[in-house]
Amino acid sequence: MKGVILAGGLGTRLHPLTRVTNKHLLPIYTKPMIYYPIECLVKAGIEDILVVTGGNSAGDFLRLLGNGEEFGLKHINYTYQKGEGGIAEALGLARHFADGEPIVVVLGDNLLEHNIADAVQRFREQGGGAKILLKQVHDPQRFGVAELEGEKVVRIVEKPKEPKSDLAVIGIYMYDGTVFEMIDDLEPSERGELEITDVNNKYIARQAMTWDRVEGWWTDAGTFDSLLRASNLVADGGANK
Ligand code: DAU
Repeated sequence: MKGVILAGGLGTRLHPLTRVTNKHLLPIYTKPMIYYPIECLVKAGIEDILVVTGGNSAGDFLRLLGNGEEFGLKHINYTYQKGEGGIAEALGLARHFADGEPIVVVLGDNLLEHNIADAVQRFREQGGGAKILLKQVHDPQRFGVAELEGEKVVRIVEKPKEPKSDLAVIGIYMYDGTVFEMIDDLEPSERGELEITDVNNKYIARQAMTWDRVEGWWTDAGTFDSLLRASNLVADGGANK
């Protein structure tokens, strides 16, 4: 299994913090944000990692992370996304790296209390398709929201005004090698981006999507409030435990 961290985009919701640097280089308590998704993959036993960066200060990732020795890695792969074409566009840049193998994708601004080793193992055993992770939240309007019938996810709606559930789709996605064909078929959304939610809905339509519930806390760090919350959560007990 290979891992892909998406750390592109322009982070405009965090201006002026991100006017001269990349969101994923900002501090979360004692470490730069990008450290947490790398640790998340390494703790799940994934050591073949691609970082998709973009926007400002892309070269600083290399200066900061090097070959990943600090994480026990021998090598990190890097690529660059021009502009802000969406999460699925950024993932599309991982096609050659993935080379037909299953992948675990982590959004660079997502942090979790617990490691995801068990979920990754269940995805391995599933032998194809995709897996998403869901977390109950009090502000589902900010996220992709899963609609369930019984225990089955039947649809995901991106930032719904009237959410049908309080289950957010967190920024960790597991896909088989067919994900890149699905990205090829995507059309830009109203906000002009290739949406990862459209990719996930294609797997749901194929009856090839499973989901797990996230235990412990989960947060993104892409707004001022969530950036502060992420630091406080990490300070209170650490991440990726
Ligand atoms: O955090 C989970 C949420 O992330 C999901 O619930 C949503 O379904 C998903 O669309 C996403 O929502 P956001 O609007 O919060 O995503 P954002 O634009 O903040 O991007 C999250 C990360 O994805 C960002 O830290 C880096 C990466 N990204 C994003 C864009 C738009 C890229 O690498 N390239 C991009 O063009």
